Amino acid sequence: MVENPLAAGERVRAIPPPTAMVVFGGSGDLAHRKIVPALYNLELHRLLPQNFAFVGSSRSEYSDEEYRADMRKAVEEFSRTQPIQHQVWESFASRLHYIAGSSGDPGTYGRIGDLLDRFDREHGTDGNRLFYLSLIPKLFPDTIRGIGKAGLGGRGFDRGFSRVVVEKPFGHDLASARELQDLVTTVFPERDVFRIDHYLGKESVQNIIAFRFANGIFEPVWNHHFVDHVQVTVSESLGIEHRGNFYETAGAIRDIFQNHELQVLALIAMEPPASFEPEDVRNEKAKVLKALRRLEGDAVDSGVVRGQYGPGWIDGKEVVGYREEPDVHPDSAVETYVAAELRVDNWRWAGTPFYVRTGKRLPKRATEVVVQFKSAPHLPFGEAAQDGLEPNALVLRIQPDEGITMRIGAKVPGPSMEVRSVSMDFSYGTSFSDDLPDAYERLLLDVMLGDPTLFPRWDEVEQAWQAVQPILDRWAEAPAPEFPNYEAGSWGPKAADELIGRGRPGRRWRRP
Ligand code: BG6
Repeated sequence: MVENPLAAGERVRAIPPPTAMVVFGGSGDLAHRKIVPALYNLELHRLLPQNFAFVGSSRSEYSDEEYRADMRKAVEEFSRTQPIQHQVWESFASRLHYIAGSSGDPGTYGRIGDLLDRFDREHGTDGNRLFYLSLIPKLFPDTIRGIGKAGLGGRGFDRGFSRVVVEKPFGHDLASARELQDLVTTVFPERDVFRIDHYLGKESVQNIIAFRFANGIFEPVWNHHFVDHVQVTVSESLGIEHRGNFYETAGAIRDIFQNHELQVLALIAMEPPASFEPEDVRNEKAKVLKALRRLEGDAVDSGVVRGQYGPGWIDGKEVVGYREEPDVHPDSAVETYVAAELRVDNWRWAGTPFYVRTGKRLPKRATEVVVQFKSAPHLPFGEAAQDGLEPNALVLRIQPDEGITMRIGAKVPGPSMEVRSVSMDFSYGTSFSDDLPDAYERLLLDVMLGDPTLFPRWDEVEQAWQAVQPILDRWAEAPAPEFPNYEAGSWGPKAADELIGRGRPGRRWRRP
């Protein structure tokens, strides 16, 4: 059992120990958009240890100066706080370094090892190492082996800590995830492996736990007796951007459904943990993922819908179809949309469907969870009087406009008893004055602190693959439907509406 180094109240003050961080894929998209801007913001908020040093590594050639200039541009473009604070940047940038090298070349790890030793001497990083694999998944194995062979991995490392952060998807399917796990754990013990799922770092996702377990009134109705169904939606208006190469090997099911969405589902469905200790939380999530019903054969055809976007319009702009995107095969059968009806086979949720969907090039960016309650058992107002009344729903808005809405029935002002659904609203923007930190800020801080609570444990990842594998198998043997089957800028294939409507008349996806 991993001990949580932080008592809850200490978190606000916790500054991580000295750390040297290595980012493989240091010139890539994620380093530019997320990792370096997150570190800069930690520095700005004085949350980064004073003895911190960073090295980015990838194949492109940069001098340290060029790399710093490039990262400055990235921070100017992507940091959540603007404008960039000159002094903070200068002090941060002086600790950024770069090493060019390929993942298959042992020399790369030798040079990194030498630089890390230098960091210990010059930046006082105390032998603590953090390796971040911000790479396309096929480069993970070589990189992990390279770290291991250079003697930099966590096993047997006795100079400080040596941890590894592995980006998702962890594996390509169940078998490759197991292989990857075997390999990673030959180099790092499980306690030093941090599988990142940035959704868990989002404030509004952590708030699912706060909402459920800091409030006594919802727990009694949080079950199949009162909940008609649950919806989890991750809708994106963006296409695949410049990530055709990656996306062609992943698709929506590996990119978002297997990880972000099943993690959110686990937080919604889990039992109350005894404490917020990492293992207590992760045990409860793992139980939910284990209880997910495995769809087999025909059940995949009826319970899961896949889609791919064609050309269309988003925000008044014409956009190309998936097959016309750069680095995408012109006949690609990769899905950019998936919707599924899932079941959590346990006492609490027996008979309650969980409808989970995600898609690219939908009309807007919105992630939310809808807990749709059953109708009141008897409505005394007469049909015409309650035309505008829907059953209660709780909407957890993960992003944007983070907050919570409760849909309730209320009397329409006037001489008659007419009722209509209205919203009771909590919004982060109006209730709290602080900006929400980016998910990567929180998660990078947690890795440096050695707190794994918000990182999926191996058994969770394995269970999630077990739930997804039969879908992958079925799709591999059954040809994709006529792709493209939804227009960019629409809400996805018609079959997804039929999927949710089939369960009970009147069930439909909520429009975020
Ligand atoms: C990433 C996916 O994990 O999450 C991307 O690889 C996706 O395809 C992104 O766009 C969405 O993250 P967010 O935080 O914008 O919802």
